[in-house]
Amino acid sequence: MPDTPVSAAPQSSSLPRAGQPPLQRWPVVLETAGWKDYALLDMGRGQKLERYGRFTVVRPEPQAMGTPRLKPAVWERADAVFTGDVDEEGPGRWKFAGSVPETWEMAYGPARYFGRFMSFRHVGVFPEQAPHWDWVMEKVRAAKAAEPDRPIKVLNLFGYTGLASLLPATAGAQVTHVDASKKAIAYARENQDLSGLNDLPIRWILEDASKFVAREVRRGSTYDGIILDPPKYGRGPKGEVWDLFVNLPEMLDMLRQLLSPNALFMILTAYAIRASFLSVHELMAETLARQGGLLESGELVIREENGPRALSTSLFSRWSGA
Ligand SMILES: C[S@@+](CC[C@H](N)C(=O)[O-])C[C@H]1O[C@@H](n2cnc3c(N)ncnc32)[C@H](O)[C@@H]1O
Repeated sequence: MPDTPVSAAPQSSSLPRAGQPPLQRWPVVLETAGWKDYALLDMGRGQKLERYGRFTVVRPEPQAMGTPRLKPAVWERADAVFTGDVDEEGPGRWKFAGSVPETWEMAYGPARYFGRFMSFRHVGVFPEQAPHWDWVMEKVRAAKAAEPDRPIKVLNLFGYTGLASLLPATAGAQVTHVDASKKAIAYARENQDLSGLNDLPIRWILEDASKFVAREVRRGSTYDGIILDPPKYGRGPKGEVWDLFVNLPEMLDMLRQLLSPNALFMILTAYAIRASFLSVHELMAETLARQGGLLESGELVIREENGPRALSTSLFSRWSGA
């Protein structure tokens, strides 16, 4: 069990300082109830019905084991249905009710982004990440308010379509965004352009995350905040293999070395169903054993619009400095 379980978030003034183990808190459930451009409308029988901007979408969802609340006719009116494999990264394809555009615009706070019907059932945004975006922006704003001249450097690994890079940048952070896919980097830059945020200091880096991080460690670089959302399995631009269950411990060990002396946060998200949030928590606790601060772990969930149920989407563990 954690040393001192607490129900309310402790104030940073009462947190252990660097050199001591972080205070630990679990399970923590971080919930999003959606926003103007996102809603979980219904779920059940292995599927979920969501709204992304003006489009309703049906996708496989192995966690949705209950019974749908809405009438079948509502589900049948969906603009797009992803059919095929229920495995997260398995094959499958989109079927459309009518003609749909290649992209459509949506927004979260100051960031605008394109929705697109991608392979692997994605639509260009992971709404359950919203509590992390808000938390990171809050951390950056608070650090800037306390010390306006302090540069806040944030590293976003496996950054995909870039919302977790754009949002902290709007709060005043200098962001380094790393992804192995040329297409994903191009989409992220399109989102920056769409948001009218081209002036923000974001470095877009097309590279294998492990290689980039190893080089940053050798260079003695540091970051005040680190975000990583690694896939279970992925490839770098030169075919480098990323396997979460093999490479995560070494990656976290390198990232610990990149934390600045008064670092603000590190967030790990994992969509790997085979793991438990507790195994991710224990790995982070081991890695950050002398960092002080607070380590919280649990699940990211989405609350149904007008409904009583919540859907678990992923595991997370996040650390914040004292
Ligand atoms: C699950 S997505 C991350 C989602 C993202 N954080 C978001 O919320 O939009 C995984 C991303 O990792 C990238 N990726 C996979 N293997 C990689 C590697 N070895 N190095 C860097 N990026 C990698 C993929 O190109 C993809 O964009």
